[in-house]
Amino acid sequence: MDKFIIRGGNPLVGTVRVSGAKNSALPAMAAAILTDEEITLENIPQVRDIETQRRLLASMGAVVARHEGDAQDHVTINCCSLSDPVARYEIVKTMRASSLVLGPLIARAGMARVAMPGGCAIGGRPIDLHIKGLEKMGAVIVQEHGYLEARVDSGVGRLRGAHIVFDRITVTGTEDLLMAAVLAEGDTLLENCAREPEVVDLAALLTAMGAKIQGAGTSTINVHGVAKLHGACYRINPDRIEAGTLLIAGAITGGDLTVANCNPDHLGAVISKLQECGARVDVLGPDAVRVYGDGRLRAADISTEEYPGFPTDMQAQYMALATQAEGVSLVRENIFENRFMHVQELVRMGANIKVDGNTATVRGPAPLSSAAVMCSDLRASASLVLAALVADGESVIDRVYHMDRGYEHIEDKLRSVGAQIQRLGNVFAPRLENPPTADHPA
Ligand code: EPZ
Repeated sequence: MDKFIIRGGNPLVGTVRVSGAKNSALPAMAAAILTDEEITLENIPQVRDIETQRRLLASMGAVVARHEGDAQDHVTINCCSLSDPVARYEIVKTMRASSLVLGPLIARAGMARVAMPGGCAIGGRPIDLHIKGLEKMGAVIVQEHGYLEARVDSGVGRLRGAHIVFDRITVTGTEDLLMAAVLAEGDTLLENCAREPEVVDLAALLTAMGAKIQGAGTSTINVHGVAKLHGACYRINPDRIEAGTLLIAGAITGGDLTVANCNPDHLGAVISKLQECGARVDVLGPDAVRVYGDGRLRAADISTEEYPGFPTDMQAQYMALATQAEGVSLVRENIFENRFMHVQELVRMGANIKVDGNTATVRGPAPLSSAAVMCSDLRASASLVLAALVADGESVIDRVYHMDRGYEHIEDKLRSVGAQIQRLGNVFAPRLENPPTADHPA
């Protein structure tokens, strides 16, 4: 298993480019199921979860290919011969977002057999709201032997439009039902939808494929179902969570870092929080943000919320920053029930953090010392890397395959702006089989 060796103390200076958004790419790849024509997606990051999604689609009969080196690195997906609408547990257990194929498969093939994703390190991660919405659209879904057996009621033949109000805001639930609705008979009204940029990205792709969608990015989405969708070429958004992570890397190291190829409009909550902490943050234009300052930081509280609030996917990274801020920062996690797995590892590095329920109290600044630490999930691993960048000495971070799920060539990016970071083990080879994970040991 790969490790990172990081020697702390270097301010990050220079410009680093953000890759495409993993959480846009995953639903976009699933959307290819909705048509028998080829879909071309640009700005798809080379990360483990994308490789998993490729394997999942290929296991169903899709032809998925990455084209590198030409003008625009892109991925083509052709689902004209979708021979086997089954998402097997061996793949689904390594990536919960596999449930994103449920809606498209039922919409396209009239049936689906999808392994229940199970929980993960950060929480139970149920998909009951996906199921409830699909049933309201006419799907008959039975759970047995760990699988969801779904089909469209034979009397109906095709999903039908419905009025669905989500009991709680769900990003992939919104995406799953949006993809089901675009081929449904009639109109669908989705209320209490997720407003994340990744939902907007998906809706833009679907529209390019011929879908009729209004309201993506708001809490109410109207869909007029069409009989068929055609192929399209689409460039997905930059990854706002990678961009936020890199901004925190610049702030925590007291550097002067420009994060390029990002979308500042998607970073409002993160930028304003960094400014509240005393970092200087300038938006340099439509695709770049600069973070700089003397490295002295003030404590500030965060409470994770759905977009446009402070992202839960940035909570662990912010906590690393808070360990270096003067004062007491309260970090409230409102989205997932177990998203403090990074706390104990940060404490082992010298952080002063106490957890009570969904709130962590962080007292700073606490000088961090290098240590051997272990990643538990994707964003916790980013938190440990950030802490190691300012820890005194050389830290060893184990199980970095978690980080490889969602950060493309992260050690090269950090090294290019002054970090002392090396990877021990194989450079991430996208075709590697998924190793046992902390969530699912071998
Ligand atoms: C998406 O997960 C993201 N993943 C997550 O990013 C992100 O943390 C999360 O949204 C919240 O922003 C992808 O987009 C692939 P939810 P998702 O459904 O859709 C509960 C990362 O680090 N819920 O919005 O699975 C759920 O338990 C990953 O990149 C139900 O109860 O999250 C949670 O408490 C981690 N029933 C809350 O809703 C359901 O049917 C929000 O979950 C669905 C969700």
